[in-house]
Amino acid sequence: MKSLPLIAGLLLGSALPAATPNFSEHIAPIIFNNCTTCHRPGEAGPFPFTSYEEVAKRGKMIAAITKARTMPPWQAEKTAYPFSNERTLTAAQIELIQEWVRAGMPRGNAASQPPLPKFPQGWELGKPDLIVKMSKSFRVPAEGTDIYRHFAFPIGLPEDKWVRAIEFRPGARSVVHHALLYFDTASLWPTLDGKDGKAGFDEYNSPVAKRQRVATWAVGSNPRTYPEGIAVKLPKGADLVVQTHFHPTGKEEDEISTVGIYFADAPPAKTWTELQLPYFFGIGAGIDIPAGDPAYTVTESITLPVDVEAFAGFAHAHFLGKEFRLTAALPSGQTQDLLWVKKWDFAWQTIYNFQDRIALPKGTKLTARIVWDNSTANSANQFNPPRAIRWGEASTDEMGSITLDIVPARETELPALTAALRRHRQMTDASRVLSTDRALENGVAGLSADEAKLAKAVLGFFDADKDGKLSPAELESARANLRAQGFDTGLRRSSLPLQAASAR
Ligand code: HEC
Repeated sequence: MKSLPLIAGLLLGSALPAATPNFSEHIAPIIFNNCTTCHRPGEAGPFPFTSYEEVAKRGKMIAAITKARTMPPWQAEKTAYPFSNERTLTAAQIELIQEWVRAGMPRGNAASQPPLPKFPQGWELGKPDLIVKMSKSFRVPAEGTDIYRHFAFPIGLPEDKWVRAIEFRPGARSVVHHALLYFDTASLWPTLDGKDGKAGFDEYNSPVAKRQRVATWAVGSNPRTYPEGIAVKLPKGADLVVQTHFHPTGKEEDEISTVGIYFADAPPAKTWTELQLPYFFGIGAGIDIPAGDPAYTVTESITLPVDVEAFAGFAHAHFLGKEFRLTAALPSGQTQDLLWVKKWDFAWQTIYNFQDRIALPKGTKLTARIVWDNSTANSANQFNPPRAIRWGEASTDEMGSITLDIVPARETELPALTAALRRHRQMTDASRVLSTDRALENGVAGLSADEAKLAKAVLGFFDADKDGKLSPAELESARANLRAQGFDTGLRRSSLPLQAASAR
């Protein structure tokens, strides 16, 4: 009987080890290094994987979930540009788990089981230069739906500072699922904070121009560190505002989050710039998703006016998000994926850090394609039957964009880059205005002040004979112009009123 595993190995192919895999030698290293960081006491994984018994108890589930690549959670496909924070198992590791479970989960020799890794205690990057903490705890009930809540962390420094890293530390780690961190200079939060008797506030509509997303934390994230030579500005007087997503676990918890900020010694050599398609999470794209549409799609492109370097990517939508793909058509004629999230999962808001900075030469055309699923096939759909959903900041509204974190290759070209991004935002608005049924054939007559402001900007670009309205010929040429720039003017978009988006 001794030769049985060998024969099985020969029959099933060489991917299998000659001997049946056992926990101590083969499985423990995979689980401890790829799962236990979240699956241990006090972390958000719903059960711990710190011993043979704990893992074997859920062996079948582990085999299924790793085979489906649901765990470890990681949404980005592999591209030509590897990520430094990638969290995936190799095909061989997945196969080893399957084989171990099929073989009845043998333990092996307990003495050869590796110890648990040393998980970081306290601040991962050492003592921060500035620590801010919630002054009042927020109670997360035992039961109920997920909660999205904003919290303000007053900072208000007397001068601008440069930040090289930020670490978010939840207090009640088992219920905090993700957090979006902003530096905010609008100071609107004091009028909202605690008004409903609980710490923090629900919605926060501070003007886009006055806040900057600086970090995103999700279960299992490391601190956000910027690459060497890149730092983000903490403007004079700004405060930190954090939007936190809580997932009740059956046990009441009180959350007090703490944030550590690390300052750079000097201003950065190159200015961090966010390239977002469509900009501000699609506010200007007129997202208007019909009920039941399984694949509502927005496509948008921009051509880089100068050489840039990309160091991270980020995808964001709400529950209807389905797929995100950002491609770069390089001047060499090659097309490369930069970020491709095939199966969006709202629960995992990850910043995808590129291992090396990606050089994107002047003339590179970046195209973002975002797909939403508003059918009942989307199990995350908040409405059944589905409803028509438009752009908005509440989690039951939709938004969507892909963000590329870039710097200009030459700092002297920063103004050209920011001017091009600004013009692109204006063109997004123009494309939206011209996709509605009110295509400015009567000029700004009958529009609200906000709408008129936007419409005037559009007329400024396309009203060739300066009569204050668009003739059919002017409209046709404007649409052709926008299509040539990569805008989709045929999409169904919400009609006016428009939010004066690029004006923000
Ligand atoms: C980054 C943190 C993290 C890592 C790493 C991680 N998990 Fe999880 N896991 C979670 C969280 C959080 C949940 C709860 C469900 C959710 O929020 O998606 C979960 C749920 C699960 C579930 C239950 C799924 C269900 O349908 O109820 C299993 C099984 C599981 N993980 C196995 C694993 C295995 C095996 C690994 C390693 C290969 C792993 N996890 C790595 C965070 C993690």
